[in-house]
Order: sequence, then structure tokens, then C-alpha cells
Amino acid sequence: MTAHSQLTRLGLFDARVPRYTSYPTAPHFGGGVAATDFAAWIRAIPANTEISLYVHVPFCRRLCWFCACRTQGTVSDDPVRAYAKVLKAEIELLRAHLAPGVKLAKLHWGGGTPTMLAPDLTQALAAQIFDVTPLAEGGTFSVEIDPMEIDASRLDALVAAGLNRASIGVQDFDPQIQAAIGREQPYETTLAVAEMIRARGVPSLNADILYGLPHQTPARIADSVRKLLALSPDRVALYGYAHVPWMSRRQQMIPSDAMPTPEERLELFEVARALFVADGYAEIGIDHFARPSDSMAQAAKAGRLRRNFQGYTDDTSPILIGLGASSISRFPQGYAQNAPGTAAHTKAIRAGQFSTERGHAFSGEDILRGRLIEALMCDFHINRAEILRDYPITPERLDTLLRNAADAFPQMVELDATGLTLPKASRPLTRMVARMFDAYDQSKAKHSVAV
Ligand SMILES: C[S@@+](CC[C@H](N)C(=O)[O-])C[C@H]1O[C@@H](n2cnc3c(N)ncnc32)[C@H](O)[C@@H]1O
Ligand code: SF4
Repeated sequence: MTAHSQLTRLGLFDARVPRYTSYPTAPHFGGGVAATDFAAWIRAIPANTEISLYVHVPFCRRLCWFCACRTQGTVSDDPVRAYAKVLKAEIELLRAHLAPGVKLAKLHWGGGTPTMLAPDLTQALAAQIFDVTPLAEGGTFSVEIDPMEIDASRLDALVAAGLNRASIGVQDFDPQIQAAIGREQPYETTLAVAEMIRARGVPSLNADILYGLPHQTPARIADSVRKLLALSPDRVALYGYAHVPWMSRRQQMIPSDAMPTPEERLELFEVARALFVADGYAEIGIDHFARPSDSMAQAAKAGRLRRNFQGYTDDTSPILIGLGASSISRFPQGYAQNAPGTAAHTKAIRAGQFSTERGHAFSGEDILRGRLIEALMCDFHINRAEILRDYPITPERLDTLLRNAADAFPQMVELDATGLTLPKASRPLTRMVARMFDAYDQSKAKHSVAV
């Protein structure tokens, strides 16, 4: 059996395997966390500490077929303006609960498309946030930018507010692929936006691209990566396209028969990966690349890479507060998720309450298992000594957990006195191995271990 078919047989690229941006993953959240818990968790944040903040803007001018993000399309700016008012009230609620002197290690605006906000809304939102929680020294203010939905005045407003990390969505530059995924975006437009961002002195440019798209071939992805390299991004996310038409109805527009096979997907990833590495990028976790000088590359090198709802991060703050519809917050006590729809979210905030609808309060082995999964996703290694030092677990119990995971993937996982390691050739299986530590995901029981 070839290495590729062995990987495929083990469940590689199974779209149902979580990306583990949290543990437990969001589908396992329940109704046990309410707005009162969320408020109490905010009040428990010690004064003069650093936290991080995520603001969700669930609006887009266009609705790309491939996109699995929670967002709504609008031609008019009215719903965005109405939503900005709700965010304003939500930030005042946050202020009322927050201890003095709390600062932001990271502020991230995501979506949807945060650049749907007009310049005056951007300016007012940022000013209000920084009035409640100023950016800490060395803090990051990052924003997701759709190159088709930005202009000089909106970018100027973001830069004046302190934007220091711009993240542009690229996906792929090939016109046939763009047509098939319902996202047309001329190369010249992306290039011009990257230049606008650089010209304003924004120190860091990130880009998202995808592998595993319909009609994508090794030659085409190589061409797209070379075009992207010409923009010289500081950091790149190379996400595997998740084709989940049963969850994301717009994806039904995408021709299933043009989708690459699992083996072809792996090859597409490898072609892109090799080009980034040849250009001097450091490989970060399962799907990121960064210039060695980038803070994420340095965090990965130093073992400080972490996983949160935005994917990989160098943010080590234990608290991430999510504002806006559907946002998820993380506290030392657990996760809390806001009402997913803008209507329910707006209703709660207008009534003077947070919109928390579900979540998960940590119990039992949650924090330990979350760390095992995170370590695997970030470092491809679970350090036995670190776990025994930092978590309440006996050596026997830890060894059983590690052994069970290794036994499920014969010859693919290394187990020794230092802990569990995924060698390079097995890294496409990272999420599958991580799932072995997931006590909530019962589907792993169906995993076939025959090789
Ligand atoms: C909120 S979206 C994009 C931000 C911005 N609206 C834009 O279009 O450029 C963030 C990223 O999620 C990724 N994404 C969306 N749907 C995906 C899918 N089905 N599979 C994998 N990645 C996806 C895309 O790479 C996208 O750039
Ligand atoms: S990719 Fe961006 S612009 Fe397209 S639907 Fe998703 S969030 Fe909106």
C-alpha cells in the first residue's frame, strides 16, 4: 500500500473531522452556559491583566459559494449600520462588567466581511473598544479584508484606528476555479489592495488561500502560490477547502465531479507547501506558513504556538472575549457562544443582556484533553514531562491515553519517553490523531485502524 493510500484509508481529509479550534468543539456545546455565567466570567477577570477580543461582522456584499462562514449578504448598508449600533451597546455592557486596567493583547475583527463597515463606523467602533480596553504594548489589531470590498477611505479609517495586521482573502487566482467557487477576484485587484495596505505602512500582511478546490491541479495551485509570493505576505493560511454541502447550502452550486480526490488534495497541498518552504517560509502547524521573522513563526519555534477560534495564534492570553452574533468566548471556566442570528443577538443586547445562548463549562478532564489536542495540532508532539508537570494526571493514566492514540495508527505515530510524536510523513493525519483524545466525539469509534 502506498503512503498516500495508507493515509487516505486512515481517514485523511474526512471533512467531518474537527479542525480543533476549541475543545470540546462547538457542536458539543450545550445550553448549560447562560448570559449570567458569561457576565460572571467577565467580572472574574482580574484588574490590570491582558485579554483578547474578537468582533464578528456577519455581513458580506457578495456570498461566495465555497464559503462556510456564518454571514448574510446585503446590498444596502442599513443592516450593517444597525448592527454597528448593537455592537456599540454590547461594548458598553462589557465595560460595565470589566475590572479597571484590562488591556488587549489582540483585537481581531472577522466575519463575514468587517470592511463592510463604513469609515465612520470603523473609526467609532475602534475608538470605543480602545476606550474600554486599550491595546497593550506590542498588541495586535488585525482585520479580515475582502479585496473586493475595500477602498482607500475604509482602509485609511482602519489604519488611523491602529490596524497593524491586515488579512486578505485570496482563495485562488485561477479564473476558472474562481468561477466554479463563486468568487471572482481579478489578480490586479488583489495586487492593488496589497499595495494599498503596504503603502500605508501596515507592518504585516496575511493571506488565506485554499487547496482542494474544484478544477485545481498541481500546475494551477503552483501558479496561484507564485502569484501570492509576488505579494510577499508575512503569513499565509493554506486551508483545505471543506466541502460540506449538507451544512452549507451555497456549496451545492459547486460541481462535485470537479472536486479533487483525497490523493489529489494531498498532492495539491504538497505542491503549495514546497513552494512556500523554498521561498523561506517556516511551516506552522498543519496549514500555516510565516516568514521566520513573523511573531507566529517565532512562537512556533519557542513552543508558544496556540490554537483558538481564529486557527493558529501566538496569543497566550487565557481569555478571548467574542462580541457580535455567533461569536465564541473562551475563559478559564469554559466557553460561551452568543446567539448565532443577528435578530436574537440584537434582541438580547437591546434588553441590556449579553446574548449567550450556549457553551461549555470545563469539568473533568476537559482542560487536560484540550491541551493534548492543542499540543498535537501546534507542535506535532505531546511532551509527557510538560503534561505531568502542569496537569493533574498520573503517569499511568497519561501513558494509557498516549498508547491508545498510538495503537490506533500503527507505524504512523512515535511513542517514547519524551511523549508522542507525529513524524513528518504522518502529519496529514494530525486531526485524526487529535480526535483520539476527544472524549466527546463518538464517531472516532468507527475509525478503521486496518492498514
Ligand atoms: C471570514 S472568511 C473571509 C474574509 C473575507 N470576507 C474575504 O472574503 O476575504 C475567512 C476565511 O475562511 C476560509 N474559508 C471560508 N470557507 C471555507 C471552506 N469551506 N473551507 C475552508 N476554508 C474556508 C477562507 O479562506 C476565508 O478567507
Ligand atoms: S469568503 Fe468572505 S466575502 Fe465571501 S461569503 Fe465568505 S465571508 Fe463573505
